[in-house]
Amino acid sequence: MKRIAVLTSGGDAPGMNAAIRAVVRYGIGTGMEVFGVERGLQGLIDDAFVPMNMRSVSDIIQRGGTILKTARCPEFKTVEGQKKAIVNLEKHGIEGLIVIGGDGSFMGAKALSEHGFPSIGIPGTIDNDLAYTDYTLGFDTACNTILDAINKIRDTMSSHERVSIIEVMGRNCGDLALYCGLCGGAEVIVVPEHKIGIDDIVKFLGCNGDNGKTSGIILLAEGAGRASDLKDELSKRTPLAVKSTVLGYQQRGGSPSCRDRYLGTCFGVHAVKLLSKGVGNRIVGIKDNKIYDMDIVEGCAMKKKFDIDLYEMAQIVSR
Ligand code: ADP
Ligand code: F6P
Repeated sequence: MKRIAVLTSGGDAPGMNAAIRAVVRYGIGTGMEVFGVERGLQGLIDDAFVPMNMRSVSDIIQRGGTILKTARCPEFKTVEGQKKAIVNLEKHGIEGLIVIGGDGSFMGAKALSEHGFPSIGIPGTIDNDLAYTDYTLGFDTACNTILDAINKIRDTMSSHERVSIIEVMGRNCGDLALYCGLCGGAEVIVVPEHKIGIDDIVKFLGCNGDNGKTSGIILLAEGAGRASDLKDELSKRTPLAVKSTVLGYQQRGGSPSCRDRYLGTCFGVHAVKLLSKGVGNRIVGIKDNKIYDMDIVEGCAMKKKFDIDLYEMAQIVSR
């Protein structure tokens, strides 16, 4: 392929810019023309194609968000929307498309592939909710942002002898809560994949004088419920004051970590290499520390497995 396009779609994630930069520079560097599409899949329908050059991606590897902008696009779920996109891609002579986004965006890329337009997916979401890859782009940075917040909240909870519920993002996936709970020393981790009742939460918290703890942190994944509801329930069950914090959009922003810049760069280069060989309909990921790709239909159909061993380990080491 000689002319390709790249877009970012769905929720933004730190490291998307590193991936765009790698696609543009590696593509042009190996003799291709590269177009950016603004506002994700919506931009395909609205004909928002921008020719990129080496300087279009200067000074962005360290920036969160996405220079191409992102959007959610309900019209892309319709065959008419997908056909409009292909008309525009073909009008610009584009032969292959790289979609950086989460599982929803991958459904869009899969639809294009099924209509015969070669598309490659790069996993860009803080949620880490894609089964075929060990890590998604943005997850590591979001974890570090959450850990920073836990450390700060811990200081004040400890001084005032209080309990804090910290609600984190992740949609239906508990990975942000699991990893940050483990690494932030949370006494309790509440995730959608492994239900626990209020009795267990009280027991694991250990703040009723039985194990000497006088403050605590509960990491709650948004997919498992609201912090305010848990706070009301827990307040009736512990002598300590219970506070709650919803971390919100700070988890999606910020300068990408070393890991996310590395992943963005490697994913981007791998995707361009596939298109340059005429290979489409794949999704790029990392498995056992190796960058790899797999069939887009197969990969999208995989169900993510929750790491219950890690969960149980976290529960024991935080007592
Ligand atoms: P993410 O990619 O981060 O998971 P969303 O789930 O919001 O974010 O999906 C992003 C976009 O992907 C949607 O706004 C829509 O344009 C497209 N999309 C989602 N599901 C489908 C589908 N079943 N078919 C085609 N496109 C889809
Ligand atoms: O998928 C990323 C994510 O940040 C989720 O963790 C969260 O549930 C959702 O997006 C929020 O979406 P929006 O940007 O529409 O508020």
